[in-house]
Amino acid sequence: MSNTMRFDERVVVVTGAGAGLGRSHALEFARRGARVVVNDLGGSAHGAGKSSEAADGVVAEIQSFGGEAVASYDSVEDGDRIIQIAIDNFDRIDVVVNNAGILRDVSFAKMTDVDWDLIYRVHALGTYKVTKAAWPHMLEQEYGRIVNTASAAGIYGNFGQANYSFAKLGIHGLSQTLALEGARKGIKVNTIAPVAGSRLLESILPKEVIEALKPEFVTPLVVKLCSEQSEETGGLYEAGAGWISKLRWERTRGAFFDPKSELTAQTIEKAWDQVCDFAESSHPAGIQDTFGPVFSNLGIEMPQ
Ligand SMILES: NC(=O)c1ccc[n+]([C@@H]2O[C@H](COP(=O)([O-])OP(=O)(O)OC[C@H]3O[C@@H](n4cnc5c(N)ncnc54)[C@H](O)[C@@H]3O)[C@@H](O)[C@H]2O)c1
Repeated sequence: MSNTMRFDERVVVVTGAGAGLGRSHALEFARRGARVVVNDLGGSAHGAGKSSEAADGVVAEIQSFGGEAVASYDSVEDGDRIIQIAIDNFDRIDVVVNNAGILRDVSFAKMTDVDWDLIYRVHALGTYKVTKAAWPHMLEQEYGRIVNTASAAGIYGNFGQANYSFAKLGIHGLSQTLALEGARKGIKVNTIAPVAGSRLLESILPKEVIEALKPEFVTPLVVKLCSEQSEETGGLYEAGAGWISKLRWERTRGAFFDPKSELTAQTIEKAWDQVCDFAESSHPAGIQDTFGPVFSNLGIEMPQ
């Protein structure tokens, strides 16, 4: 094993680490020398109830091979408490893997405010609260690694997952901005959209497929993105069953209309093929790539 992928002296918080992907991440960080806060609320896949069993089980697994870990039973909605456990026990926080999750799948027509709020609170608010509590420590020490967990449902949309898609793509929005705000402070922030056989997929995939989609195929990507030498930041990756891929935006060249003339819906309709033509597409990578064509169409220099 390369030394640079070790996490000795590093403190790692993994949320939702009592099962599935989070458990796999926590075990691997601990095997690589990290001191790990194993957070898990221990409720149902739909967000009901709570229990200390899930987190305690993984802490015991880590201790069984001589690793160091403590449990946190807090909901990610109380992210400051989770980070406080890292500080109280290990005196620092280097890596946060925001992974906790539940599902409340239902068509948008039948979705209740409770379905919407619960998913928002666990995924979006939870990711924010844990990250917000870790952020000042990372700024202060000028070092941090954060991996946030999105989903293909957020990237592409998925029937019955309006609440979840909204939260999951929002999480990537957060990652992209924190990647910029953390850039000069040694903080790298990335997003993964995993596929893994866990209880969250139990109702939609057959048992043998669930067993084949091991979380252990996703964890090495998380470890790599959280390693000290990793320079990656602001990225979005899909991963599952040994397949790992990076995503980026693609944009058509677009149509440019004379800003001195009136622009009507009919004019746009006439140029619609050009608006949607990917033949001369580009890959915008920052907000400056939006202002570029806007200012160039006005014929003025982009303000620095
Ligand atoms: N499994 C997949 O194919 C898949 C696909 C896309 C995204 N994801 C995402 O990956 C993450 C992990 O999912 P998984 O498949 O391992 O599911 P899982 O149900 O096996 O694990 C999620 C864990 O999070 C915990 N949790 C739930 N709410 C919590 C809260 N408020 N605070 C703290 N812990 C909480 C649960 O108790 C559970 O142990 C989730 O964010 C999920 O949305 C999974």
